[in-house]
Amino acid sequence: MTVVGVLPFITPMQSSSSSSTISPGNQRRHTLPASEVRPLNTHDAVSVFEIEREAFISVSGDCPLHLDEVRHFLTLCPELSMGWFEEGRLVAFIIGSLWDQDRLTTDALTLHKPRGSTVHIHVLAVHRTFRQQGKGPILMWRYLQYLRYLPNVRRAVLMCEDFLVPFYHKSGFKVLGRCAITVANLTFTEMWYPISGHAYMRRNSEAIRFPQLPVSMETPKTDDTR
Ligand SMILES: CC(C)(COP(=O)(O)OP(=O)(O)OC[C@H]1O[C@@H](n2cnc3c(N)ncnc32)[C@H](O)[C@@H]1OP(=O)(O)O)[C@@H](O)C(=O)NCCC(=O)NCCS
Repeated sequence: MTVVGVLPFITPMQSSSSSSTISPGNQRRHTLPASEVRPLNTHDAVSVFEIEREAFISVSGDCPLHLDEVRHFLTLCPELSMGWFEEGRLVAFIIGSLWDQDRLTTDALTLHKPRGSTVHIHVLAVHRTFRQQGKGPILMWRYLQYLRYLPNVRRAVLMCEDFLVPFYHKSGFKVLGRCAITVANLTFTEMWYPISGHAYMRRNSEAIRFPQLPVSMETPKTDDTR
């Protein structure tokens, strides 16, 4: 998949409160942006894994993506990841890859299928100190909007433990059914979200303008009303 056509829409953005200082020579010197949403790269892998370590490993002893798998997907398909940074620090992220079957199988946990039209969302996680602030749903909303710019993508799928079904339902995901994948004694529900609209074709659309807005001005959709 080429991402050349969509890269402008995921250009890092800065909120109006970006950190900056005025130098003695009166030249503005920009420092780290207050808020930035951008695709992840392999340099971000350790920060991703640190959040995963706290969010999953400390709770259940395992996590959706191990460090080598994070690097693997951020090498193969960085355009299917999204990270939210506050003053340069990763506070929330999503990692996805492409899948080419109707339902998830264990292969989907480790493979990226470049010809697939389904985005498999491996993990959404928010740093512990930034939870309960709505960041998870906002980042998911941005991600789902962004996927509309990828011409071959038709839907997003994820697997989650049952207690998170209401959480993803609020973001517009619908239940597909029991997931064929089990990890240790954990079972999962498979959920999906339709990606439509070919937003990349619609110049001057709201979807094209939204990345220019500061993070704080964006409101996640709670229902799939498209
Ligand atoms: C789940 C998660 C992404 C939510 O992100 P967030 O930014 O905290 O989202 P919010 O601020 O909207 O958090 C509150 C909502 O999340 C839901 N939620 C968060 N953690 C939950 C949990 N362990 N069980 C059930 N619901 C949970 C709540 O239903 C709550 O909804 P409410 O608004 O009706 O009260 C975040 O808590 C997280 O990173 N958890 C650890 C990693 C994880 O479980 N990721 C998902 C599986 S891949």
